Amino acid sequence: MTRYSRVIGTGGYLPSEILTNDQISETVDTSDSWIFERTGIKSRRIAAPDETAASMAEIAARQAIAMGGIDPEEIDLVIVATGTPDRVYPSTGCLLQHRLGIKHCVAFDVQAACSGAIFGLSIADQYIKTGAARKVLIVGSEICSRIVDWTDRTTCVLFGDGAGALLLGASEETGILSTHIHSAGEYEELLYCPNPQAAANGHKHEMGFINMRGNEVFKVAVNTLGRIVDETLEANALDKEAIDWLVPHQANIRIIQATAKKLKMPMEQVVVTLENQGNTSSASVLLAFNEAVRDGRIQRGQIVLLEAFGAGFTWGSALLKY
Ligand code: COA
Repeated sequence: MTRYSRVIGTGGYLPSEILTNDQISETVDTSDSWIFERTGIKSRRIAAPDETAASMAEIAARQAIAMGGIDPEEIDLVIVATGTPDRVYPSTGCLLQHRLGIKHCVAFDVQAACSGAIFGLSIADQYIKTGAARKVLIVGSEICSRIVDWTDRTTCVLFGDGAGALLLGASEETGILSTHIHSAGEYEELLYCPNPQAAANGHKHEMGFINMRGNEVFKVAVNTLGRIVDETLEANALDKEAIDWLVPHQANIRIIQATAKKLKMPMEQVVVTLENQGNTSSASVLLAFNEAVRDGRIQRGQIVLLEAFGAGFTWGSALLKY
């Protein structure tokens, strides 16, 4: 009997405060038209001062659990992807486990920047396929607004806050077909966020803000995501036409369009949320997936390709039958 990981629930949470491009252009030298034309972003959400990655994760997770119709105690494994954890430790996974009142499960974080949710999905799929877990909760939760330098126009226009959740259950019905994850640490300097307190003695002092060479990141992202599409299709001996939906990481509309073009896919089959959310890092793919499931675009039986790219560099994909 083949055992699959099947999606049984999804959830998402966006903070209520909206920050528009026009508002940002009051504080740094930019404009709504520059930001929209170069990125596709018009506004993003900003977490309230009392919100954290764990508090937002809890809201998204509870929605996924409710959709799955399960008791939280049935969850064997909680994986949280975040680059903005509440604390260095305990992990946000442990904090979420406690918030959900789950006594008997394993919980931990994965740190793969914007690819974190795909890495989490890949880990979850291995646990389910081997029989080590039957129900796994994966959450991407990010408060990017707290690691952005709001005086740096090259980064502050891009990011937003939010949380997305996915609940997987073991099933004999087809679910995740394959996952593919990769890392390349030699690109550290193109995109990084320092940890000032843990910096080595003599290391130049840097604030804990996102540093990015955007143009270079852009080029690597487009090439890499093109390759992961080929890798995923080849691994499943599928043609491009087999894919019903592309759910990409929401970093830049031009990167998304390039991947859609590679798949010869019209933008109507691509789930795009970044216009009003910006780049929510590890939350973005799960937020987009949740939106398209809940509004009825993604239907049971359809083939969905999820993909992401982030600091590290890290990148990955998951192909699933919903
Ligand atoms: N408003 C106005 N001008 C801006 C600006 C802003 N917010 N940010 C940068 N500029 C300026 C630059 O200073 C530069 O000016 P110059 O030519 O006088 O030096 C000019 O715009 C072009 O900058 P460049 O970086 O080449 O623009 P770009 O077309 O590459 O767009 C990004 C910049 C960041 C939107 C784009 O590179 C990008 O999206 N990269 C990928 C980022 C990403 O996905 N990161 C997360 C990965 S998970």
